[in-house]
Amino acid sequence: MENIAVIGSGTMGNGIAHVFAQNGFKVSLIDISEAALEKGMATIAKNLDRQVKKEKIDEAKKTETLNNITTFTSVKEGAKGADLVVEAATENTDLKLKIFKELDEVCDEKTILASNTSSISITKIASVTNRPEKVIGMHFMNPVPVMKLVEIIRGYSTSDEVTERIMEMSKKLGKIPEEVNDYPGFIANRILMPMINEAIFSLFEGVAGVKEIDSVMKLGMAHPMGPLQLADFIGLDVCLSILNVLHDGLGDPKYRPCPLLINMVQAGKLGAKSGEGFYDYG
Ligand code: CAA
Repeated sequence: MENIAVIGSGTMGNGIAHVFAQNGFKVSLIDISEAALEKGMATIAKNLDRQVKKEKIDEAKKTETLNNITTFTSVKEGAKGADLVVEAATENTDLKLKIFKELDEVCDEKTILASNTSSISITKIASVTNRPEKVIGMHFMNPVPVMKLVEIIRGYSTSDEVTERIMEMSKKLGKIPEEVNDYPGFIANRILMPMINEAIFSLFEGVAGVKEIDSVMKLGMAHPMGPLQLADFIGLDVCLSILNVLHDGLGDPKYRPCPLLINMVQAGKLGAKSGEGFYDYG
């Protein structure tokens, strides 16, 4: 596999494109507007500068990485000839189904279609294509250039061969892949989100303040960020949508989202990206 197409140039998409390009793959980065693509490329350049400054890479590697990426506003043009497409569009089921239907129509028969979804069923996504055995989850973690894990999700029909190829491909990116089956929230978010939700319940019930809750988990459990800061970093809307997937899909009240989280999302307090969440980013 040499040619990779990445759909979506937001936080996850630009990180995924960055990592593939830095490891020598030719990447087509696709988004709906030139403005979104420019923003994504600027973020990649900024993160490469960060790596240059830390002497992880040199200027030549930065230039080579940027030269490996070509941008497109058309899925048909960008995905043409791709060996692998990694979709990292907004976490919305209807949108993902629409994208996969189109990918199935425009891509070669051999192309593997992966989704970076954090919780939407791979089996459901695969069902709108005529190649469910070639549809798989490739769930990267934010910030993508830094985090070692790729959670590889096998849908109901994903073949052994495709799973093996994607595991190998992830290793070529310097990542550590772990294989999991397709159930709500997979593993990462099935375990992470209840912890974040419990931290929000602790705040809601007045057990402790934001600083204290985060400090207990950072200093006591050696987490790099406390759960409330991490929720702000991920996006409170994303946390709520994943909790809803867990609650609906597993039917257990232990996954019910905290009312404070629901209120904050309704008030537009989405964390770092909106300027305010549990912390102020103004
Ligand atoms: N691109 C490239 N490099 C980056 C980067 C980026 N976007 N962000 C940070 N870095 C690098 C820094 O240059 C630095 O490099 P060195 O180790 O060489 O110094 C290193 O990462 C650490 O960064 P900082 O010193 O700036 O800050 P930090 O030590 O506070 O670390 C962090 C920042 C890596 C984000 C750390 O706080 C962390 O690991 N936080 C938890 C992240 C996490 O849990 N992610 C998973 C979220 S869940 C998810 O993504 C999935 C989902 O479905 C919701």
